[in-house]
Amino acid sequence: MRTQYDDTYARSMRDPQGFWAAAAEDLYWERRWDRVLDDSRAPFYQWFTGGLLNTCYNALDFHIDRGRGKQRALIYDSAMTGTIKTFTYDELRDEVARLAGALRRLGVGKGDRVLIYMPMVPEGVMAMLACARLGAVHSVVFGGFASKELAKRIDDAKPKVILAGSCGLEVNRIVSYKPLLDGGIELSRHRPDRCVILQRPQERAALVKGRDLDWDDFMAGAPAAECVPVAATDPLYILYTSGTTGIPKGVVHDNGGHGVALKWSMQNIYGVGTGEVFWTSSDIGWAVGHSYIVYGPLLKGCTSILYEGKPVGTPDPGAFWRVISQHGATVFFTAPTAFRAVKKEDPQGTHMGKYDLSRFRTLFLAGERCDPDTLLWARNKLGVPVIDHWWQTETAWPIAANCVGLGMLPVKPGSPTKPVPGYDVRALSEDNTEMPPGEIGSIAIRLPLPPGCLPTLWNNDVGYETSYLTKHPGYYLTSDAGYKDGDGYVYIMGRVDDIINVAGHRLSTGGMEEVLAGHPDVAECAVVGVADDVKGEVPVGFVVTKAGVSRPDGEIVKELIHRIRDQIGPVAAFKTAIVVQRLPKTRSGKILRGTMKKIADSQEYTLPATIDDPAILGEITEALKGAGYAKERR
Ligand code: COA
Ligand code: AMP
Repeated sequence: MRTQYDDTYARSMRDPQGFWAAAAEDLYWERRWDRVLDDSRAPFYQWFTGGLLNTCYNALDFHIDRGRGKQRALIYDSAMTGTIKTFTYDELRDEVARLAGALRRLGVGKGDRVLIYMPMVPEGVMAMLACARLGAVHSVVFGGFASKELAKRIDDAKPKVILAGSCGLEVNRIVSYKPLLDGGIELSRHRPDRCVILQRPQERAALVKGRDLDWDDFMAGAPAAECVPVAATDPLYILYTSGTTGIPKGVVHDNGGHGVALKWSMQNIYGVGTGEVFWTSSDIGWAVGHSYIVYGPLLKGCTSILYEGKPVGTPDPGAFWRVISQHGATVFFTAPTAFRAVKKEDPQGTHMGKYDLSRFRTLFLAGERCDPDTLLWARNKLGVPVIDHWWQTETAWPIAANCVGLGMLPVKPGSPTKPVPGYDVRALSEDNTEMPPGEIGSIAIRLPLPPGCLPTLWNNDVGYETSYLTKHPGYYLTSDAGYKDGDGYVYIMGRVDDIINVAGHRLSTGGMEEVLAGHPDVAECAVVGVADDVKGEVPVGFVVTKAGVSRPDGEIVKELIHRIRDQIGPVAAFKTAIVVQRLPKTRSGKILRGTMKKIADSQEYTLPATIDDPAILGEITEALKGAGYAKERR
């Protein structure tokens, strides 16, 4: 029997231009587009060329102009400080317009970059929207990244202004953002004109004279700024994400296609309507936060919740249920790792029983592979559909999902269901032919990508082509491996590159290796992601020290752990480094990272035919056992 999903998907494939032109009618356009899909520079495709619009207008003023100004737009719920603050669409628009006016006073205009390094406070969301209002391009950097990562982003985006918080709040500590920011600027070649610091009461930061401004002074007397129409193809934001080296990729998302896709996704994928409360527990520093804390829900006219807290420990594993019930959330989106954390502390789900969850309809999980155990536990305990869906920073919205708004399909745990309308997803072989059902291949998406996905990398068309378009000509390479089953369900098994997913955070083991290799005592090293009950994966480093190094291993290990924390950030969760005599390699010198990972995960492995010296694997196994891994080898 054909479903609404089948019909919608078929339409999106048959007539993508008609499909997305109809979806675009949902936005307010200052000027309509000339071409829905511009393929004149293929494989660089652009959507809605000739169109003019403003994303901030569509996210805020649009709703006010339709009489919804008194509706709640944003609820800030900080479990860290015990604060709840609500902004109506009127209030949020007024704050954003003033912030945009203050930025304009500093000389920020269309096309200028603004870097945002802020914790989960309303000003972070306002800053993003204020940039959009001016046509400036924001680049949000996650607070868990340290100075060096910040410096890389400053140098690539070259922001005119940086907006930062004085500190972030973690469960047992205050994270001083300002010294990290100062360190980042110190390390970068580019210098911003100004830094504006939101002084949080938990820790006030020292300001650098002549460069830094206090947020309150910056805002004082600022006139409200109107929305600046920009081209649909103009960048809305740059979000840096881990690539295969230590250099992050500046993923660009535009204004027109992004707005169209995000708004469409709210009803059709998430099944939420205007006026409903939608909650994503992530961070504005990640793609999920950009799309489903800020842009998606606001474009749809929903009430979005900005939660500063953790799934557990703030104060207990009932935090999610408290927020859902207190604010009447109908849809909740988080990462499987968060659920594993809750399940570990409250396996019976007793905390759920303490709250009224009657308005809660659907749980969405993404960010990493969702193990069936977690999905089934959540579904059994909550009694609502649990939807695994798959996407990437590059796409900004789901590639595969069970599109609730198009009628739910049967759930197959372990699969994020079927390709979302607009995405032609294939499992390809090395020679670009499609794999038969059930057989693993390289997951690729036929070009053109639908609206909303990255048109390119920031100032780096060549990098965009080589990273994504070269491997399978005519397709976008997702770098995920997986397969489709006989019913067309997609299964995503993991990355084929050296990206690992730590607690839903995307990190590069290659980047970590670069940091370890920089230690003066290290001759060579390898970092692999090994299985972790809560975080999904955690990095483990193997290092070989230089000949003649006689310092105790423990001392070097401590320094290595500190080095990663200092140069990448605590978010890398790098807690284990093991000093070994040698690394296992092929005869051609390639380090056998995959085999080391299998040993650490206590999985069976076949001895690689090209291994140089098989005895090394025994040494690696012993070293891993000593670190608490490689436990139950069969
Ligand atoms: N600023 C500064 N430091 C931060 C930070 C931030 N915004 N976010 C996290 N960190 C730090 C943490 O304090 C921790 O430091 P520590 O090593 O000193 O303890 C480290 O980075 C790792 O943090 P995290 O990954 O959050 O681990 P955790 O052990 O504190 O919590 C979970 C584990 C599972 C509860 C947590 O990772 C979680 O809620 N994950 C959900 C992730 C998510 O929503 N991802 C979005 C993608 S969909
Ligand atoms: P990010 O760009 O941080 O969103 O990370 C994207 C990567 O996370 C993908 O390439 C996948 O490897 C992984 N991922 C995200 N969601 C899922 C999912 N539902 N199932 C499997 N892997 C996922």
